Amino acid sequence: MKTANQDIKPVTTKINENGNIEIGGCDLVDLANTYGTPLYVYDEETIRSMTKGYKDAFKNYPKINMMFAAKAFMTKAICKIMQQEGFGLDLCSGGEIYTAVSSGFDMTKTLFNGNNKSYDEINYAIESGINTISVDNFFELALLNNIAKTQNKIVRILLRITPGIECHTHEYIQTGHLDSKFGFDLTQTDEAVELIRDEYINLKLVGLHAHIGSQIFEKQVYYDEVEVIFKEIKRIKDKYGINLNEINLGGGLGIKYTEEDRPISIYDIAETIIDSIKVHSKKYNIEEPYVFIEPGRSIVGTAGVTLYTAGSSKQVPKGRKYQSVDGGMSDNARPSLYQAKYSVEVANNPNGEAVEKVTISGKHCESGDILAKDIMLPEIEEGDTICFYTTGAYGYSMSSNYNRVLKPAAVLVNNGKSDIIINRQTYEQLCISDNIPTRLN
Ligand code: LLP
Repeated sequence: MKTANQDIKPVTTKINENGNIEIGGCDLVDLANTYGTPLYVYDEETIRSMTKGYKDAFKNYPKINMMFAAKAFMTKAICKIMQQEGFGLDLCSGGEIYTAVSSGFDMTKTLFNGNNKSYDEINYAIESGINTISVDNFFELALLNNIAKTQNKIVRILLRITPGIECHTHEYIQTGHLDSKFGFDLTQTDEAVELIRDEYINLKLVGLHAHIGSQIFEKQVYYDEVEVIFKEIKRIKDKYGINLNEINLGGGLGIKYTEEDRPISIYDIAETIIDSIKVHSKKYNIEEPYVFIEPGRSIVGTAGVTLYTAGSSKQVPKGRKYQSVDGGMSDNARPSLYQAKYSVEVANNPNGEAVEKVTISGKHCESGDILAKDIMLPEIEEGDTICFYTTGAYGYSMSSNYNRVLKPAAVLVNNGKSDIIINRQTYEQLCISDNIPTRLN
């Protein structure tokens, strides 16, 4: 069955009677006028169609725990939606934990991941009642045990392993291959297990965790990932008599940024994972484990679009035409960081014939601040509303204040209603952390 991550546009996208693009029953040009641009627009129906898709696809495997990878887009409103949908949260910093706690999230449904969690972050995570911590390295095992001891708690942990699986995605977002900054190499797990058994008595090892990468289009890597984890569980069982019955498979399901992308459906992934679990449980005579999955991009990526207003343009004699917009690498770092490509439309002229090859440039003082290179669009006029699709994941969450440009606002749209979920930053907020030492006055 097809799922929303296999389309470029949010599920509610249409062209309305004004001839403008509409999402969630809201005219994008109206949204741009009301809230200003750049503006992140999130379609609630698309988000929920993905969470429901995950639940439906795994319904025959009741021991599943869905955790939204908050790094893709984290705000209090998203926490509320995830809670309503019965999802937990995969958190990876003190800031993400704080956001979850302050949204009133049920912290018994949260995980803490990361390769360099600080003392304060771990302390805060345990105090907040985090359910499980995925431990990344030896340093962290010792640190975590000390903190757990000080708080007089036993902490449930997973060991993050590097499964040695390479998937075909951008090098920076591959994580499961052997030479990775994340997790224990498979030759190090024995030592970790022994340390936990013999010394780290405030830690309770419940299972293994792996994450093989992001923006994945292949099923086979998930099959292989489950196999590698099962082999390791079997080895640990035989060698130490320890039964690990929780596994975390990470996230990674890809989405469709451009027509060339061919992401697979949630149902394909679920079937592959469940199949591999059944095969390997039988083969190794291991009880079917509790499974965590941590999708991020696929939950919020397709749901989000960014609106910009067209400003100055420049035709280089015998060269490119540059059309500048009022945002850029500060609200979406992905094009400059990963050469990421997007599908773009003019929200007030979606049916216009694509007659012009244009490069959409951001407003930052940097030549690399290009949002989309050499794309075909209708002729753009100053003031047009430009819509970038599939910016919902790792867009706002990786935004910055480069050039002291303010962070944009985000609205959630549903059924003709729009609500602010992140206010546009103000100049006062921009300077709130600045301090002038008295000797400079
Ligand atoms: N679990 C772990 C341990 C992760 O490291 C990640 C993503 C996820 C889950 C969620 O993966 P997803 O379902 O979103 O693929 N900034 C990059 C993506 C970095 C992904 C980092 N880890 C980008 O913009 O493409």
